[in-house]
Amino acid sequence: MTAGFKSNSFNFEPMDTSKYILVTGGAGFIGSHTVVELIENGYTPIIVDDFRNSEESAIKGIEKITASSVTLRRVDVCDLAKLGEVFKEFNFEGVIHFAAYKAVGESVQKPLAYYRNNILGLVNCLELAIKYKVKNFVFSSSCTIYGEPKNAKIVTEESDIQPANSPYGNTKQIGEEIINDVIKSGANIKILNLRYFNPVGAHSSALIGEMPIGKPNNLLPVVTQTAIGKMEKITVYGNDYDTIDGTCLRDYIHVVDVANAHVSGVKWLQEQKNSLVENINIGTGKGTSVLEIIHTFEEVSGEKLKWEFGPRREGDVVEIFADVSKSKRLLNWEAKKTVKDAVISAWKWELKIKND
Ligand code: WQD
Repeated sequence: MTAGFKSNSFNFEPMDTSKYILVTGGAGFIGSHTVVELIENGYTPIIVDDFRNSEESAIKGIEKITASSVTLRRVDVCDLAKLGEVFKEFNFEGVIHFAAYKAVGESVQKPLAYYRNNILGLVNCLELAIKYKVKNFVFSSSCTIYGEPKNAKIVTEESDIQPANSPYGNTKQIGEEIINDVIKSGANIKILNLRYFNPVGAHSSALIGEMPIGKPNNLLPVVTQTAIGKMEKITVYGNDYDTIDGTCLRDYIHVVDVANAHVSGVKWLQEQKNSLVENINIGTGKGTSVLEIIHTFEEVSGEKLKWEFGPRREGDVVEIFADVSKSKRLLNWEAKKTVKDAVISAWKWELKIKND
């Protein structure tokens, strides 16, 4: 073990560099924010990313925020041999596996690319984690596996899993099934499936944030890109749902909160003795409508948004929020930031991209 020192404004704390955490997709949206929080909590993340859906500028952003240099291996998680070399090189304490495709619409057009990347990537990471005796593993799952909740808008981890309505959603369901089978086989590993709701926003420094490739589909990037002039207007998909204002509600959660959930998750896993798998919702428990997001944006930015109602989007869930009691109980983690914080940070990030 090599000892290093992490500086903060008042003192120097010894940094335990034996705490290597492999972060696949560490240059991506949630990955980059998680790398920052890991570093700030004394871990040493090792990023594996091939930049097919992310930008190298994220690495510079992370380094600037944390005032430290980041170790990166430019590897495709589907390449078992190359990924194996990374496992061989470092004695990992844990793996956080983000690297995956995530666009619902694209997955319908390119199902095989999604199954190859998301399933093979996971299988490779699990196989190598077991081979190299890495005990702690976090998998990026999604609330999409709940589909349209049958009985309540608030879903607990025990709520029914609905048939996936996209190949993307299916890769997350299959991913969890693979993990369940691995645990049933007696593998000596502890796994957390973190089921994210709707991660939004950016780091308060505006040095890292969401980088949608091509035309965005998710609401927040559509809002900020419309305000900046990259998109002409926002189409609000549907105004006749049975909700407070006729538009769909989602559990939008600040990406920095999501990132911190991973740190709490890794810490919790490290404390556990036996093999296990746990599913945990990562949300705020609160719902916000599409119109509320638009109004919040206008309020915080002072910009007038061009928007109109359009038809419902096929496959949209009406309302879904996380029951957050398990994350509080198990991980001692809860979301701290508000939707307003997320919208402010997303706008600051969009302005920063423009200036750059
Ligand atoms: C939010 C709301 C739209 C764009 C995402 C991921 C999914 C899963 C969950 C990770 C909906 C409305 C959007 C627009 C709009 N995440 N909207 N106009 O559908 O909850 O799904 O989060 O696994 O994979 O895709 O998020 O941001 O696309 O939509 O009116 O131009 O905004 O109808 O009500 P969604 P979203």
